[in-house]
Amino acid sequence: MNTSSCIGASTMKPCCKMLIGYRISSILGVSHVNSSSYVRNNLLKSHSKLVDGGGCYSNVQCNQEVGFGRRDFCVSDLSWGQGRVLGKSSYCVDKGSGRRRGVLVIPWAASDVREHSTSIESHVNEKGFEKIYIQGGLNVKPLVIERIETSSETEVLKEEDDKVEVNGTGVDLGILKDLNQNVAAEREASEIEKEAWKLLRDSVVSYCGNPVGTVAANDPADKQPLNYDQVFIRDFVPSALAFLLNGEEEIVKNFLLHTLQLQSWEKTVDCYSPGQGLMPASFKVRTVPLEGSDGAFEEVLDPDFGESAIGRVAPVDSGLWWVILLRAYGKITSDYALQERVDVQTGMRLILNLCLSDGFDMFPSLLVTDGPCMIDRRMGIHGHPLEIQALFYAALRCAHEMLIVNDGTKNLVAAINNRLSALSFHVREYYWVDMKKINEIYRYKTEEYSPDAINKFNIYPDQIPSWLVDWIPGEGGYLIGNLEPGHMDFRFFTLGNLWAIVSSLGTPKQNKGILNLIEAKWDDLVAHMPLKICHPALEYEEWRIITGSDPKNTPWSYHNGGSWPTLLWHFTLVCVKMGRAELAQKAVVLAEQRLSADKWPEYYDTRSGRFIGKQARLNQTWTIAGFLASKMLLENPEKASLLFWEEDYELLETCVCALRKTGRKKCSRFAAQSQIHV
Ligand code: GLC
Repeated sequence: MNTSSCIGASTMKPCCKMLIGYRISSILGVSHVNSSSYVRNNLLKSHSKLVDGGGCYSNVQCNQEVGFGRRDFCVSDLSWGQGRVLGKSSYCVDKGSGRRRGVLVIPWAASDVREHSTSIESHVNEKGFEKIYIQGGLNVKPLVIERIETSSETEVLKEEDDKVEVNGTGVDLGILKDLNQNVAAEREASEIEKEAWKLLRDSVVSYCGNPVGTVAANDPADKQPLNYDQVFIRDFVPSALAFLLNGEEEIVKNFLLHTLQLQSWEKTVDCYSPGQGLMPASFKVRTVPLEGSDGAFEEVLDPDFGESAIGRVAPVDSGLWWVILLRAYGKITSDYALQERVDVQTGMRLILNLCLSDGFDMFPSLLVTDGPCMIDRRMGIHGHPLEIQALFYAALRCAHEMLIVNDGTKNLVAAINNRLSALSFHVREYYWVDMKKINEIYRYKTEEYSPDAINKFNIYPDQIPSWLVDWIPGEGGYLIGNLEPGHMDFRFFTLGNLWAIVSSLGTPKQNKGILNLIEAKWDDLVAHMPLKICHPALEYEEWRIITGSDPKNTPWSYHNGGSWPTLLWHFTLVCVKMGRAELAQKAVVLAEQRLSADKWPEYYDTRSGRFIGKQARLNQTWTIAGFLASKMLLENPEKASLLFWEEDYELLETCVCALRKTGRKKCSRFAAQSQIHV
C-alpha cells in the first residue's frame, strides 16, 4: 500500500508505530550498522558549523516508509506528492552537489486538508468559556514545499525590536545589534565553554543528512543508555536556544519540522493510541535494513509517545515546549515564515485543541496524570501540577501571538483568550502562598457548602506542613506545586515557579516575591549546585506512599529534591527579566566551577547538591546546553527579552468575570488589575 492510499483510507486502524524512512543505498558504501552516525560524523568533520554541514549525500536516496496515519517527510526532487512512491528517484538534495540547499518537499499527507477537514466548533457554556472540539474525518493530500534558507538570508533583528523593556528599563537594542550578531565574536570563549560547545555538537543527531536534534546524553561509560540516546523534545529546548543564540538556526528549524511530522494526528481509536495533537516525548533515528532489498538500509524516525517510557507516562509538556520553541525560533531569527506555514499552524492548532478539549474537569488548569513533564516518574504531581500550568500558560501566550486568525481559527483564538484569563486568575488566586496566605489557611473554616465559600477547595489547616511554617520568609512567597479538591501540595517546584515568572502567569508582585524567596532560600534551592528541582524532598512514609518506594527518587535525589543544572537557563531568563542578572551570574559561577570537572552530570544529590547524582548520566546534553544558554542569555539581555512576556492587561480584562461568583458582567481593565493583585 502506498502512503497516499494508506493515509487516505481512514477506515483502517492505524499502525502503532510510525516510521519515517529514508533509504540509504548500500552500493554506495553506507554502513548499515551506523549510518546515522556516519552521516553525522562526516557532517561534522567537513564543516565547522552545523548549519553549513547539513548536506545530503549524492549517494543517499530518500524515500519514506510511513506507518498508517502519520505524515511523511522527505527531501525530494520529485514533484509534490510523489515522495512516498518507492523506487522513484527521490533524492535528498541537489543530487551530486552534496549541498543541502535546494527544494525540500514535504509530501505529507495532512497539511491543507487537515486545515479544511478539521472543523473547530465552539459554543459558550454557562461559565462563558469556549468548548472546542474537532469534527470530521481526516483526509490527506500532499502539500507544503519549503526552501531552506541560510541564516544569511534571514534578517536577524526587526526594527520594532529596537527598544525593549527589561524589567521596566528601556534597553536600546540599536547599539547592541551589531555586538550581538555573533556571540563568539564578542569575547573569547572560556575553555569550559569550548568544551561544552564540542560536547553539544557531538550530541547532534542527523536524519536524512540534516541535523534534527541532540541526544539526551552521550555518556561513553553508560552500558545501559535506556532512552538517553534519544532526542527528547523538552531536553532539546536549551540546545535549541544555544544554537539560536549562536546564529545557528537550521537544526532548530529541522527539529520543529521533523517533530511536527511525528505528531499524532489520528484521533484516538483505542486506549493505546496517542490522542490527536500529542507530541512524542522523544524520538530516535534508527537505521534498519530495507525490507525486500538486498543490502539497502533506511533511516527511520521512531517516536515514543510514552508507550515505551518507564511508567508509561504521557508527555504532556512536549507539545507545550514545541509551541514555546516555535515562537522562540521566530523571535530570535525573525523567520516568521515558519510559524505561518499551513502545516505548522495546523500542528499548533492540534496541540491546543488537545489541551483545550472538554473533560470532567472543573478548573481552568490542565488536568494530567503523574509524571507528565520533566518529572516523568511518580512523584505525586498528578492532577494540576504547577509546571504544566505554567508551560500551558506560556504555550497559550505563544499561540495567542502566532495563530493566524481566520474563520477556521476564530473560535480557537477566543478559547485561548478565555483560558489565558481564567488560568491566570486561578493560579494567582489559589496557588499563591506567602506568610499572609498561610496564616489565612491556618485559620480556615472547613466544610463550607456554597458558592461563597472562602475555603473553596476545603483545605484542612492541618495540611500545612511543619517545614513550611519556619520556611516561608516574611517577604516574598511562591506558587504551590499542585491544587486539588481538599489538597494543596505545598512543595516548591522550581520549573513551574520560574515559568510563572517568564510567562507572567504570576502578577508582577508575585513574580518579584518568587525571586525574593529564591534569594532568601538560596542555601536550600541553590547551595552547591543550581537548582533544586523541588523542595523539600519526600521522606519516610511520604516517600513510600507518594513515590511508591521509588529507589531512584530517594530523598534528595533525582526528582525528589535533587539539583538539576539544566534549570540554570530558566533561572537566568527569570533573572534577566526581573533585572536581577547578578543572581544568575552567581549561580552560573557555581555551576561553572563544577560541571566540567564533574563531566556535566544530569543531576546532583543531597540536600545541598554536593554529590553527583547516584544514577546521573554524564555528558548530559541539557546540562551542557543549559549552561551555554545561560551564558549567552546573560550576555544578550535583549535577546533574552524576546523569550519572556510582560503582563497583558487586555487579557486580564476579559477574565475575572467568568470565574467570579458575582456573575458575568464584563470587567474593566481597572477592575481586572485590582482584582488580580497586580
Ligand atoms: C529523565 C528526566 C526527563 C528527561 C529525560 C532525558 O527521564 O526525568 O526530564 O527528559 O531523562 O534526559
